[in-house]
Amino acid sequence: MNFFLIKEYILYYHLKTDEHSLQSSFFYQFYLEYIKRKSSSNQWDIIENSRKRLLNDHSKIEIFDLGAGSKVNNSHRRKIKSVARYSLSSPKFSQLLSLLVKGFKCKQVIELGTSLGINTAYLATAKTDCQITTFEADPAALKIAKEINANRKNIHFQKGDIAYLLPEYLHKSNPKIDLVYADANHTYAASIEYFNIILPYITKNSIYVMDDIHWSSGMKKAWEELKKRDEVSSSIDLFDAGLLFFNPDFKKQHYILEF
Ligand SMILES: C[S@@+](CC[C@H](N)C(=O)[O-])C[C@H]1O[C@@H](n2cnc3c(N)ncnc32)[C@H](O)[C@@H]1O
Repeated sequence: MNFFLIKEYILYYHLKTDEHSLQSSFFYQFYLEYIKRKSSSNQWDIIENSRKRLLNDHSKIEIFDLGAGSKVNNSHRRKIKSVARYSLSSPKFSQLLSLLVKGFKCKQVIELGTSLGINTAYLATAKTDCQITTFEADPAALKIAKEINANRKNIHFQKGDIAYLLPEYLHKSNPKIDLVYADANHTYAASIEYFNIILPYITKNSIYVMDDIHWSSGMKKAWEELKKRDEVSSSIDLFDAGLLFFNPDFKKQHYILEF
């Protein structure tokens, strides 16, 4: 059991607020449109059927984890159903990312940590002319992610260690990145490094999403540091993840919001 996470959740539970505390019209709208919005849509059924199949798959894969590992299972051979259960973003959170890609008319998205490709599918189906570049070092997970997303032509899989691949990719393609989803190596050092590598490619309308900001003291420290950076204008803590904004017109403010 992750006692750090439980302690953090109790704190978050007491601090979180909703739209009534938001004075900024941008964040008021943002909250209602993306965070609070409940979707009864069946547009994600195909992706959720893929998740169900993975959750019922008892076969084992060799795990090659360059990240901080799992707090539930650190074995090198894991059942696919266990990876699907513990490593993937929730449907609710992936739907939020998908809505952001569509609503912010994203053209270039970076996902750090593809795993089995379920969240990647959400990003790619949001807007088919948006290019999703996703990074993963684990060959077995990547193979499954490619199978699941075989028909989604706007996904560009990058296989290898993000520490080497990401700077190389950014240098070569020089993209303007609209949305980043950082969900790979859950350590303090890697979280800061990812942000620093990506920062030159961020625009004032970009959103940088950092997963598992309350997962460990290292992740929390990284989050606390990043939200205070001069380049960051505002931030939202949703507990599952943190969102960083870069528009200098925003008043520097940190929100802890119910999700
Ligand atoms: C939490 S999972 C990603 C889940 C995925 N974003 C989702 O929600 O469906 C983290 C993944 O990052 C990968 N990873 C961790 N460190 C990495 C690194 N340095 N380079 C490439 N991949 C890495 C792991 O192999 C793992 O599959």
